[in-house]
Amino acid sequence: MKRCVILISGRGSNMQALLRAQLPLEVAAVVSNDARAPGLAIARAAGVPTAAIDHRAFAGREAFDARLADEIERFAPDLVVLAGFMRILGQAFVQRFAGKLINIHPSLLPAFPGLHTHRRALEAGVRVHGCTVHFVTAEVDHGPIIIQAAIAVLPQDDEASLAARVLEQEHRIYPQALAWLARGQVRLNAHGRVDFPHPRNAPALIAPALDA
Ligand code: GRF
Repeated sequence: MKRCVILISGRGSNMQALLRAQLPLEVAAVVSNDARAPGLAIARAAGVPTAAIDHRAFAGREAFDARLADEIERFAPDLVVLAGFMRILGQAFVQRFAGKLINIHPSLLPAFPGLHTHRRALEAGVRVHGCTVHFVTAEVDHGPIIIQAAIAVLPQDDEASLAARVLEQEHRIYPQALAWLARGQVRLNAHGRVDFPHPRNAPALIAPALDA
């Protein structure tokens, strides 16, 4: 069975969705840059080894990234899964785990990379919003896309309601993407594109139905 290490910074609901999904993927460890991350307790309660490496204890990003990468490699993972990990990872780290590093982002990329995606979606007046699972490349929130879920933006939506509906979809598409990766049904090819080498039934998009 393939192995993954999950990186978190906070509540860890995506991590929890992955643990609950009973994927054909061993979660070898959950690592956080913040020892107070509530997700660490959830992982420990599920019997998953945890580690915390405080980024503030390092002089710069490169030193933190190198220590983090060493910690991850102790678990020899096939996949490194960012699940609400709120530190930007430098080029050396990204290259070290190229093709293995996966992220979930709360927007329909390439729209709204970066922070405050739901607020920005409301400000922009988009009618469709959602979330994206993608391979991580050096350019933040721009890597090759594996799966997306789209939801309708409703007239009464505020940032919180939109975030909650997107999060529900995150909890669906992240397990799906990792199931594909675990079974070798999706991969990054030599040209940096996402390949689905085997036929599959599930779509790489979840989209809402229209009102009648
Ligand atoms: C999620 O919305 C994820 O897409 C974003 O940060 C949030 C983390 O939430 N990168 P959780 O810690 O998984 O609950």
